[in-house]
Amino acid sequence: MDAAAPRYWPEAQAGSIPYWIYTDKDNYLEELERVWYGPHWLYAGLEVEVPEPGSYKTTVLGARPVVISRAKDGTVHAFENRCAHRGVRICQERFGSVESFTCPYHQWNYALDGALQGVPFRRGIKGEGGMPRDFDPKANGLRKLKVECVNGAIWASFSHDMPSFREYVGETIWGRYSRVFSGKKLRIIGYNRQLVPSNWKLMLENVKDPYHAALLHVFFATFGLYRPDQKNALEMDESGAHACLTAIMPPKDAAPADGNAVATSLPGFDAGLQLADSRLIEGVRELTGTETVSVMSLFPSVILLQQLNSMQARQIVPRSVDKFELIYTHFGFEDDDEEMQARRVRHANLFGPAGFVSADDGEVLQMTQEGISPDAENASALVRMGGAEIKDATHMATESAIRGMYRYYREVMTA
Ligand code: FES
Ligand SMILES: [Fe+2]
Repeated sequence: MDAAAPRYWPEAQAGSIPYWIYTDKDNYLEELERVWYGPHWLYAGLEVEVPEPGSYKTTVLGARPVVISRAKDGTVHAFENRCAHRGVRICQERFGSVESFTCPYHQWNYALDGALQGVPFRRGIKGEGGMPRDFDPKANGLRKLKVECVNGAIWASFSHDMPSFREYVGETIWGRYSRVFSGKKLRIIGYNRQLVPSNWKLMLENVKDPYHAALLHVFFATFGLYRPDQKNALEMDESGAHACLTAIMPPKDAAPADGNAVATSLPGFDAGLQLADSRLIEGVRELTGTETVSVMSLFPSVILLQQLNSMQARQIVPRSVDKFELIYTHFGFEDDDEEMQARRVRHANLFGPAGFVSADDGEVLQMTQEGISPDAENASALVRMGGAEIKDATHMATESAIRGMYRYYREVMTA
């Protein structure tokens, strides 16, 4: 973006978000630098995905391919999946186990922590050629990221000047985080991957918006899983970047449409619909507290969701200004019995990319991008539910957390 002619940006409190931030390619490249490669902790996976020394997984953080590996001493490392020689992606598989990493092109070899430990023909052949004498392997390892493992999840940052993860999310969000990630051993249930044709920030807005849930998701209204009159809470960290929405499902015997005239007038609402298998929406309490829903958005890279007994990390991978990938990791606890495992899989059916609930979100994000793009230069979104303030709430009629995120985003992008 041309620094001399900054784009128009209204005050965050004004509740107006300019559409060019979802369509401008230069802004997208600037975001990669400032947001994704800047001082932010990015979700990189779960420790259980790299269980043993030698285990690795590959992922993408921002637009950069990254390897997460466990070294011989048990420590977890993250480094760019890009050979220090001529840039080849050294590791091609999603998961695996190795003694060391070897680039397929000229066989440079790297230790499990990314350090360069072997260069074929370094001294040349029969005394001829080879690398210069002053070539220092120590200075030519894979580019490392800073890593922190926090109660089973792995966080990585391209910036080495980071506060602890707990400081980064703040005490309120930490309380919510440690409810799901308490340190209890996790177990992977499975993955989904979804390519969504919209700007990545629209995904974060979607999960900071409690208000759409009772209106867009007719499944919720029909089967009483989420209602406007239920107990809700919206909490943010001080910066406004991170948020957590929680709710308590109405009692089972409450009429599905009780006190809820808006929901029953939704197109597609049919009070006569019955679930063939009601176990789809029957959960058992397992975490502390009575919340049945907890949707945490940790800026910029992940949504940590618990709904009924489905627990997921939804990792955001930006692919271009108008496309992102959402990688769902469904997980449970190591000591789950078979019944619990089956329950989690059932509930994941509601909240996966093709789920009865979450499919609506992917679709509406595409519609948003398509609605915005034709006139992005001159128009803006109206984000004024709940007034102009940026503060926590105990109701769902608010867009406060969206305003909070953009107040923070604007600071990062214009600093
Ligand atoms: S590019 Fe990797 S060894 Fe040459
Ligand atoms: Fe939604």
